[in-house]
Amino acid sequence: MKLNIENEEISLKIPATIANIVCGFDILGMAVNEPFDDIKIKISEKPGIQIKHTDPYGLPEDPKKNVAGVALQAMMNEMDEPPGFSISIHKNILPGSGLGSSGASALGTVAAANILLGKPFSHEQLIRFAMEGERAASGTAHADNVAPCLYGGITLISSEPALQINTLPYPELFVVILHPQIEVKTSDSRKIIKKEIQLKTAVRQWGYIAGLVAGFCKKDIELIRRSLNDVVFEPARSLLIPKFKELKSAAIGAEALGGGISGSGPAVFMLCDQMSVAENVEEKMNEIYTKSGIDFKTYLTTIKSTPLL
Ligand code: HSE
Repeated sequence: MKLNIENEEISLKIPATIANIVCGFDILGMAVNEPFDDIKIKISEKPGIQIKHTDPYGLPEDPKKNVAGVALQAMMNEMDEPPGFSISIHKNILPGSGLGSSGASALGTVAAANILLGKPFSHEQLIRFAMEGERAASGTAHADNVAPCLYGGITLISSEPALQINTLPYPELFVVILHPQIEVKTSDSRKIIKKEIQLKTAVRQWGYIAGLVAGFCKKDIELIRRSLNDVVFEPARSLLIPKFKELKSAAIGAEALGGGISGSGPAVFMLCDQMSVAENVEEKMNEIYTKSGIDFKTYLTTIKSTPLL
C-alpha cells in the first residue's frame, strides 16, 4: 500500500455514542453532540505507537493495553511499511460510562490516522480496525458504538453474513443523558445477560426493534414512543444502575418519548421531541439523583448529524 502523508498533525473531536437505543442490542446506535473526546495524532520518528492521555482517568498508555493502540495496530498490520505514530487523547467520555468511551478512542484514532495518511482506508476498513479495539475492551467486537461514531446520526448494523451499516433518517430529537459517576464495565454487563430467551419474548423484542427503525425512517414520533421498550436486556442490566426505575418513570411522566440504558450503562438516556420537554425531563432526572447523593452529570444534547470524515 502506498502512503501519501499529507498532514503534519490531525486533531479530531470524537462524539459519544448511545449503543442499542433501548431494544436494538448490538445493532442500533446513535452519535450525540455531547460529550466528546479530543484526539491528536502525528507521525513520529520513533517506530511503533506512543500514546499519551492528558485526562485524569489513568487509562493504560501501553499501546497493547489501550483500545486506541489495539485499533491502530490492526490498521498498521495492513500497511507494508507503517510509520510511527504519536497520539494524544483527552477523554471527556468517561471510561465505563456506557457512552461509547472505548469506541471513541478506537475509532477516533484510526479515523485521524487515516486522514494523516491521505485516506488509504475505506470507512468499512476503519470500522473493522476499531472493532478490534472494542474486542480488547469488552471481549466482543460489536460495532454499535464505532459505526455511529464514524457515520454520525443513527446507524443500523448487521454483521452476518457480512458487515452492513445503514444510516437511517430520523426526526429532530433531543437527548437527555444522566451519567451516574460509577463505572460499569461492558464485559461485566454482558456477563449478566440471559443466553437464551423464550420465543414469545424474542417476538416482542424484534417487534420493538422493527417499530423503532420504522418510526425513525417515517419520522413517526408516536411509533418511536411505542417502540422504545426492551424486554430482554433492561430487566437484568438495570439492576446495576441505582434509581433506574425512578429515573425512567419520572422522565416518561415528564413526557419523554422513552429511553433506557445507554449502551451497557450506567448512563441512562431519554429521547424527547421538544426542547422544552427535554429541559423538564433533565430537571426531573436531576432531582432524583440529587436526592440520592450519588455523584452524577447530565447532558442535554442532540443527535450528531454529521459524519466524522
Ligand atoms: N451493544 C453493546 C452492549 C454496547 O450493550 O453490550 C456496549 O457499549
